[in-house]
Amino acid sequence: MKHAIVWRDEHIAVRPLVLEDAPLLASWLSDPGVLEYYEGRDRPYDLGRVKTHFYRDDEAAKRRCLVGYDGTAIGYIQYALLDAAELEEYGYAADARIAGMDLFIGEPEYWGRGIGTALVAGMAGRLLTEGPEAVTVDPHAENARAIRCYGKAGFPRLRVLPRHELHEGTWHDCALIERRPTGV
Ligand SMILES: CC(C)(COP(=O)(O)OP(=O)(O)OC[C@H]1O[C@@H](n2cnc3c(N)ncnc32)[C@H](O)[C@@H]1OP(=O)(O)O)[C@@H](O)C(=O)NCCC(=O)NCCS
Repeated sequence: MKHAIVWRDEHIAVRPLVLEDAPLLASWLSDPGVLEYYEGRDRPYDLGRVKTHFYRDDEAAKRRCLVGYDGTAIGYIQYALLDAAELEEYGYAADARIAGMDLFIGEPEYWGRGIGTALVAGMAGRLLTEGPEAVTVDPHAENARAIRCYGKAGFPRLRVLPRHELHEGTWHDCALIERRPTGV
């Protein structure tokens, strides 16, 4: 099946999610190794939950995409402009135009190979051409691999968001990480 490409490089291709991707998302998001860093091991997804969460219409502004590497589906990335509540929560001015990204590589054997760095750098570059002042990600403060990856991709750490996300029953600090057009 041919899909419109959102961004690609020599190996990585990002394209909009389609319904046929739902079983893959369910398999990634029921893997405790992935859930440990994304959503939580106490919140595994089945197909029904994937369809409710990733395919709902009420968040039409959120762009949800599949990530492929050399033709193999390996992960997920979504992006959207922050809404008013998120801008306030993250400490931005009410009229700021800031894009947020959220992602995971669902195949752990692809971790630590530089793919995340190329993906977030490439996607941030692509999103910044659409006019936001900055692109942000907010990993858990203790997700050292993610923070290292985003740092390599030109996202310096901006500030800590204390007790920002309820994960596996505990409130976790997150790191607000931001890339601006001049950040590379
Ligand atoms: C976070 C994620 C997107 C990063 O992608 P990736 O392809 O693994 O990242 P890269 O290989 O480009 O970079 C990872 C860097 O972290 C380093 N690293 C790995 N584990 C680490 C750890 N425990 N502590 C510190 N650094 C670590 C790697 O060595 C590498 O740095 P280097 O190139 O200087 O050696 C991916 O690992 C992932 O999806 N993980 C699970 C879900 C998740 O955490 N999602 C992010 C939510 S915000």
